[in-house]
Amino acid sequence: MAKMPMPPGPRPWPIVGNMFSISPNEPWVTYMQWGKIYGDLVHCRVLTRDIIILNSERLTKALLERRSYNYSDRPQHISNHLFGWGFNSLFLAYGDEWRLHRRLFHQAFRAEASLTYRPMQLSKVHQMLLNLFETPEDYSEHMQTCSTAIIMAATYGYDPSPRHDPLVTIVERSVDMIVKALRPEVASILDALPFLRHLPSWFPGAGFQRDAIECRKVTAEMVELPFKYTKSSLTAGTAAPSMVSDILSREKEDDSHELALKHASATAYGAASESSASTFQVFVLAMFEHPEIQRKAQEEIDLVVGRDRLPDFSDRPSLPYVEALVRETLRWFPVVPLGLPHATTESDIFEGYYIPKGALVIANIWAITHNEDKYPNPSEFRPERFFLPDGKLNDDTMGVIFGFGRRNCVGRYVADASIWAGIVSMLAVFSIRKAKDELGRDIEVEPEWSTGLAIRPRPFKCCIEPRYPELDSERLTQMIQTFC
Ligand code: HEM
Repeated sequence: MAKMPMPPGPRPWPIVGNMFSISPNEPWVTYMQWGKIYGDLVHCRVLTRDIIILNSERLTKALLERRSYNYSDRPQHISNHLFGWGFNSLFLAYGDEWRLHRRLFHQAFRAEASLTYRPMQLSKVHQMLLNLFETPEDYSEHMQTCSTAIIMAATYGYDPSPRHDPLVTIVERSVDMIVKALRPEVASILDALPFLRHLPSWFPGAGFQRDAIECRKVTAEMVELPFKYTKSSLTAGTAAPSMVSDILSREKEDDSHELALKHASATAYGAASESSASTFQVFVLAMFEHPEIQRKAQEEIDLVVGRDRLPDFSDRPSLPYVEALVRETLRWFPVVPLGLPHATTESDIFEGYYIPKGALVIANIWAITHNEDKYPNPSEFRPERFFLPDGKLNDDTMGVIFGFGRRNCVGRYVADASIWAGIVSMLAVFSIRKAKDELGRDIEVEPEWSTGLAIRPRPFKCCIEPRYPELDSERLTQMIQTFC
């Protein structure tokens, strides 16, 4: 088996492999360019790790779905454990503990169960509309607050205060620290030189040990405190429906299940909060750049929903252009462009190539959603690409942005509902356009992107204002109250 060649790819340098050929800011673009040279299946090496890149939907289906029994592990990084994030469902090895987490997520967030969160999701989105009304310049913060509030409510039944909430602050600190710790240059050096983890924190160059001690402390609080909140609310009889309260009250879980529930619920925030907020910000950028598309979606909303009420989930099937706009937002800039790396449990042969045991397997979601054959002029924002010649929507729902096979995203139904509700509600109420300078000229913007668990445009100057003159804050409040 080992005689078969590895898939083609760039020639690695001694020791470092291809580490310095990969763009640190846009690795998905490097991988896509390699795809053009070597084919959709590419092999490269970073230090000691073999990496297999899948640049097409066909390959992700063939390996991550049809051979999912062998492609559903995750690479194990020393830094996950060193920084106290070894419990996290995103990174768990393919085994019994991961299976138990998936079962708990399935109970809370499968398609039918996700319907129960919809009234809560609309109410958080409406709060975002009011916040945008008051201080539109803080739109990025309002989108993050909305996204955080939805996942804290769905997971713990907890209603965070909009600013400086103590539980959200703890969770955000832990996520910030782990994002820095998992930077490839830190994670791969620790993986390649595992003895470094035994260095004492006072040793020159071992400052990461101090960060690790701090991160373990904050992460332990992130796991314990919100869970404790839900348990006390259950005892007091005040618990709102949520993943934790529903599972605790439905089943008499034994201790190991309670620990798994604690760990799975603590994963949800990190997995959910940034990705939905980032998608809202991609939407703002798309509307800023394409007023004509924004107008077309708003005309559809006026026709179907009117101007006397806000859109509801029951309107969704009657708003095909909005649907296409949502799909195009997900396609144009998938906020988790490389998904999460899978890993092989055993070595494999695929189409004559050798794929070693333990190789990291990356599905390049960016390359899939920018495939020129399927999406001509992929960098153009064009919702029309989702319509068939007969004017009906096609069946391409952009499920690829939620990953593949047994490790696909457990929160996809909740995420899809939050994103739709946020986008349609903003379109119904606001117009997003270029801000003007003191001479009345449009202020142009060169988008910049920031990275974290998800990619997002950095906040830029734009004008978010009520779409028509009669829509003042009193009118908006009245429209929101009709939902309560
Ligand atoms: C726009 C929103 C979201 C996007 C784009 C997104 C995307 C993804 C992607 C690409 C993966 C990796 C899939 C793979 O390995 O093939 C993933 C995994 C995961 N997502 Fe999401 N996600 C979103 C929202 C959420 C939400 C709301 C939750 C809430 C619970 C969530 C929980 C998870 C978990 C727990 C995993 C790990 C699954 C596993 O390893 O078995 N995500 N997500």
